[in-house]
Amino acid sequence: MTQQPRAQQPIGVFDSGIGGLSVLAALREELPHERFVYLADSAHAPYGEKGDAFVIRRTLVIGRWLQRKYGIKALVVACNTATAAAVERLRAALPALPIIGVEPALKPAAERTRTGQVGVLATRGTVHSARFARLREAHASRVRFAVQACDGLAQAIEQSTVPAWSAREEAHRRIRELCTRYVAALGNFGSGAGKIDTLVLGCTHYVFVRPMLRELVGPDVQLIDTGPAVARQTRRLLAVQQALAPQPCTGDACDATSGNAPVLLHTTGAAGALQAAVDRWLQLPSAHSSTVAIA
Ligand code: DGL
Repeated sequence: MTQQPRAQQPIGVFDSGIGGLSVLAALREELPHERFVYLADSAHAPYGEKGDAFVIRRTLVIGRWLQRKYGIKALVVACNTATAAAVERLRAALPALPIIGVEPALKPAAERTRTGQVGVLATRGTVHSARFARLREAHASRVRFAVQACDGLAQAIEQSTVPAWSAREEAHRRIRELCTRYVAALGNFGSGAGKIDTLVLGCTHYVFVRPMLRELVGPDVQLIDTGPAVARQTRRLLAVQQALAPQPCTGDACDATSGNAPVLLHTTGAAGALQAAVDRWLQLPSAHSSTVAIA
């Protein structure tokens, strides 16, 4: 790792897989001059059904790896499940590193609902965490939350970008089936009294099935994810520490036409699957994904 001024060091972003790309997109929009290193732990996804001990272990290993290999100046844990299980442990293990976690947007949902009925879709790990219980409790006097753990959904979204056509087709069929089942389990949606008018996407993977969720809940329901809020929080934190990158991007690594800083993309799974997700959901023409082993 080459030593460089802190402001020019990259920001690490990680998720169990491709879901955190939805947060990366928001970060790039908010902070176009920053360099990012993205790590998808796809070989170990999904985290949501694996239990806290496993998620804590992977989160610590990955946080340390990103710090050692890239000297990151901040780490965005772009995974609700990992934040719920491991963010405190990660902060204790890496005390000098600013760490930004993500959590289901219950607070903004509570502020925006008119009917007082909010639906939440998240992983099993997130909805059974103590952190989520505290968050829910903090707003429970004003709002009724209908909460659904979505086993299998993050995994199906991971599968929807794998190279094999037949596996992708099967994943799309499964995504539709699961979204239909989980949305129906939450209750009735709409703007009328007693109906759920706000749906929280409490897993970063679910942002990529937003069109299908929109189709299922109808046009009057607000869908809320945390990507933009996390990006603004990251900016605030770096600004306070005077660690924002110089504008425009400077140095050899910068894109000469856009002035944007580059993004490094790594996965512990198949590089083709991460690249397909990036090509489909992000505009990053010059970014290439590679596989890394992190044990
Ligand atoms: N994208 C993750 C989240 O926000 C985790 C999905 C999973 O691996 O289960 O919760």
